[in-house]
Amino acid sequence: MSEKKKPIKRHPALQQFSREHHFGLLLCWKIREGFRREIEAERMKKYTDWFFQTHLKPHFEAEEKYMFTLLSDEDKLKKRAIKEHRRLERLFEENEDVKRSLSLIEEELEQHIRFEERSLFGEIQKVATEEELEAIEKMHQELLVDDWEDEFWK
Ligand SMILES: [Fe+2]
Ligand SMILES: [Fe+2]
Repeated sequence: MSEKKKPIKRHPALQQFSREHHFGLLLCWKIREGFRREIEAERMKKYTDWFFQTHLKPHFEAEEKYMFTLLSDEDKLKKRAIKEHRRLERLFEENEDVKRSLSLIEEELEQHIRFEERSLFGEIQKVATEEELEAIEKMHQELLVDDWEDEFWK
């Protein structure tokens, strides 16, 4: 059996981001489901465009503005996270080979979220002061409404 690290209890400020991650993972599942059901890529793209603009872009912005700023620019985890944000933004904005970009989003967004949950958030919690975490909690507004009507995954 592999040795598991005891999870540190997440600060409420980070729990907000984790709830948004749940919706990100759900998006990856919806894309997988769409592919399985042979849904037209353009139809899925309408949803992923909306999700990106409404949820993911603000999520990336909040992470970069409130959270990553607590780490030094030289920090490896921070560098990786920012690089992945830029890469994911490019994939969401890709309009040429939509099927390919959706398939890459499905893979890479999930990896990015797992990386933040497993490594980056732990680091943030280690270096941030209680005041800094409370400030994040106050500034960061959760946006979790998903009322998209074309539920191609159902
Ligand atoms: Fe992120
Ligand atoms: Fe995130």
